[in-house]
Amino acid sequence: MSRLIVISNRVSVPQAAGVPGAQGGLAVALSSALREHRGIWFGWSGQETEEFTGHLNMQRNEDVTTATVDLEPQDIEEYYNGYANRTLWPLFHYRIDLTEYDRNFSEGYERVNARFADSVLPLIEPDDLVWVHDYHLLPFGSILRQKGVRNRIGLFLHTPWPPARLLVSLPLHEQLVSSMLEYDVIGFQTDEWLGSFLHYVEREMGLTVDEDGSIDYNGRKIIARAFPIGIDYTEFVEGANSDEANVAHDRLRASIRGRKMLIGVDRLDYSKGLGERFESFGRFLSDNPDQAGNVVLLQIAPPSREDVASYQQIREDLERRTGHINGAHADVGFVPIRYVNRGYSRRELAGFYRAADIGLVTPLRDGMNLVAKEYVAAQSPENPGVLILSQFAGAALQLTDALLVNPHSVEHVSETIKRALEMPLAERRQRHEKLLASVQNEDVVHWREQFIAALFGEAGSLTAERPTHDHLV
Ligand code: ADP
Ligand code: F6P
Repeated sequence: MSRLIVISNRVSVPQAAGVPGAQGGLAVALSSALREHRGIWFGWSGQETEEFTGHLNMQRNEDVTTATVDLEPQDIEEYYNGYANRTLWPLFHYRIDLTEYDRNFSEGYERVNARFADSVLPLIEPDDLVWVHDYHLLPFGSILRQKGVRNRIGLFLHTPWPPARLLVSLPLHEQLVSSMLEYDVIGFQTDEWLGSFLHYVEREMGLTVDEDGSIDYNGRKIIARAFPIGIDYTEFVEGANSDEANVAHDRLRASIRGRKMLIGVDRLDYSKGLGERFESFGRFLSDNPDQAGNVVLLQIAPPSREDVASYQQIREDLERRTGHINGAHADVGFVPIRYVNRGYSRRELAGFYRAADIGLVTPLRDGMNLVAKEYVAAQSPENPGVLILSQFAGAALQLTDALLVNPHSVEHVSETIKRALEMPLAERRQRHEKLLASVQNEDVVHWREQFIAALFGEAGSLTAERPTHDHLV
């Protein structure tokens, strides 16, 4: 079996027991993928050093070796805070209003990608499969190629891919996309993002896309396909049945004293639609005075990317909105929005999900959204809660039995909250059964196997039909 070399910005370095691991879909998905594969996970340590040395900090735990490097302050500012999170992240989430174009950012991005490539190069052996992740590292494969690496190299993008009409606002967009065509396989979360990518390469670059979605480029064929990521279902359900989850569940239920509860769990990110969510809940309270004092929203939102101004603004904005809505609807002994800015263990989270009558997952744009899947997996099949899910999350293409909403419409979300609260048990069970089948079957193991098979170039994995993208023209 070939070894797997995973390259990503964040690396979840093995933690001492009891210490919560890194948050975010990528960290959660990859730690379980690597547990089953002999291999190395390379990336940034998250630490700062005065001057970049490329020194590898290697650690081994079970079958996973992690290798991390520290970055110097200018790298962090231009590559991570800059090009990754001030330029690509907002652009890829359709927030061109928040997208900053700064030449120093793109130079820093190139420089750090090259530094990462130099650092990891000595670890790559001829038969290894190299699997690169996410928007931080789009040109990484092409840099490895320039350095003579001939291995199979794949890229999986965890975020959306923007429509061509938005992407062309990025200076040097064609250079960036051309660099991605040095990969053997390019994976997206959904057919929608894949369609946008193929539309770009056909319309802007004049390339030919075959019926199976492969792209002809410089005499090579690049496989571009959707591989929807899932959760580690088995591990999550095991955790959801643990004592820790039960204690968290009971503690939360006791504290809400028989009221109905909605839950949101998101990194504090403007793409998650938290402001719109709070307004929708406020509208529900105003439109349904008979429910006053009977329904609580628990929003768990750990801070994220705090050095980026737009993230500081969202934090202030949410504090203001929470104060406003709570001020209007609170009573002695009752506060409608509980807003918590901290992380919890996965088991505690599972207990919280199970304690909630409604999972409110309303991003304005999201590559996939694993919280929606975790909420479904944590429910008791006998008395499941209802998932309200944004139509703009990648997960909405799979979880079609959720109540799908337009998160921009406070009226629509407010009416859907009412519908969910009134939903009869039989309908809740019926919907949950179908949702659960999808979450269970299309889990992280399925995702990893599909991607790795495509990276190996296995014929059966390459027969996907290309998505249509007529709606993009
Ligand atoms: P993103 O990758 O954009 O953060 P996802 O919904 O795909 O969004 O993944 C988020 C992951 O982070 C989920 O697995 C979720 O359980 C985890 N997470 C989010 N908030 C917390 C928190 N407060 N404590 C622990 N884990 C969290
Ligand atoms: O899923 C998107 C993502 O950017 C992941 O790459 C990352 O692990 C997660 O969100 C958290 O973001 P950050 O690494 O910037 O804290």
